[in-house]
Amino acid sequence: MKLAERMDRIAVEGAFDVLVRARALEAKGRSIVHLEIGEPDFPTPAHIVEAAKHALDQGWTHYGPTQGIPELREAVAEDVSRRRDIRVGPEHVSIVPGGKPIIFFPMLALLEPGDEVIYPNPGFPIYESMIRTLGATPVAMPLVESRGFSFDLNLLREKLSERTRMLVLNSPQNPTGGVIPEEDMRAIADMVRDRDLIVLADEIYSRIYYEDAPASIASYPDMLEKTIILDGFSKTYAMTGWRMGYGVMPMWLVEAVNKLMVNSCSCVASFTQRAGIAALRGPQEPVDTMVAEFRQRRDAFCAGLNRIPGFRCTLPGGAFYAYANVEQTGISSKAMADLLLEEAGVACLNGGAFGKYGEGYIRFSYANSLENLMEAVARIERVAVRWAAVASRG
Ligand SMILES: Cc1ncc(COP(=O)(O)O)c(C=O)c1O
Repeated sequence: MKLAERMDRIAVEGAFDVLVRARALEAKGRSIVHLEIGEPDFPTPAHIVEAAKHALDQGWTHYGPTQGIPELREAVAEDVSRRRDIRVGPEHVSIVPGGKPIIFFPMLALLEPGDEVIYPNPGFPIYESMIRTLGATPVAMPLVESRGFSFDLNLLREKLSERTRMLVLNSPQNPTGGVIPEEDMRAIADMVRDRDLIVLADEIYSRIYYEDAPASIASYPDMLEKTIILDGFSKTYAMTGWRMGYGVMPMWLVEAVNKLMVNSCSCVASFTQRAGIAALRGPQEPVDTMVAEFRQRRDAFCAGLNRIPGFRCTLPGGAFYAYANVEQTGISSKAMADLLLEEAGVACLNGGAFGKYGEGYIRFSYANSLENLMEAVARIERVAVRWAAVASRG
């Protein structure tokens, strides 16, 4: 039996492949520092876990409303409205299993073959995978390191066309950790406000930042009606395995997402949603503590990387990724990622796994202990010195 033709265009995530290779090396007795996977290494805060246990005991074990439990949608609407200085209600919120379905469902609902989608490159691989799968045309926007991995706005203006149906923004960004500066976000809003397109604002890292709070394009005049906000619980509350996220979008699109949810998942697990209410309405100190710890690791790890000959790492403004330029080592980023895994025992990702403009860079997730991060720097330094010696011998 042959798979449908669209399956030739769907891609997977490189991080999971590297994890499998790293685990295989560990099975042979090798010690590996894991800096490949994009999830907080903190436990889900205890009060959230307790809320889920309590919900199970209370019988939240049945189907719930497809769009999400009203109390959770209210909590999401309040939180999103307050943090972005906008006014949205529970009717604008769709609760879905993770942030990813807010890429999958709206794209499925909106894109036709021939439609163009502008998206960040390097970027979360699922954007391009979905655009291609649906037969739409991916229009890659290179991120500019010297602009803190924001867009070149002149280039964006050039790439916008009559066929642009969607613009994907991601700030704070995966894989670069870049945060789109407020003035750029405002300029982007001005550029797209009068166009017949929708913005998919992937704000899954909205709470993990180290300088100014990231701007949301939904906050600018008239932009709320043409923005889909993607956010969720995975990163903010260290709940990647719970599979719960949400989208905030215009009502007509909520209806479409509801239909796709009915046809696929029915609803997010009811007891999980009760835990989501506890996450949003309960104490936020665990989030602050986690972000403070990430900041310390970011500073120490990036400083360590910058001491390694041929490595250059701009201090990221958000998320938990260090994105190092390794072009000066003279080794391709793909070969470098392999060498780091196999020789240094440091699992990391080739920037090329995030799109063609990611070549020359390596993504390290610093969601690991300070001790392990310093061990990773020491290991990389040791092998880098060896490679340099080999290279100098010709
Ligand atoms: C930019 C970005 N968007 C969305 C997601 C998906 O998050 P979730 O695990 O909640 O589906 C991720 C996860 O790595 C991400 O990095």
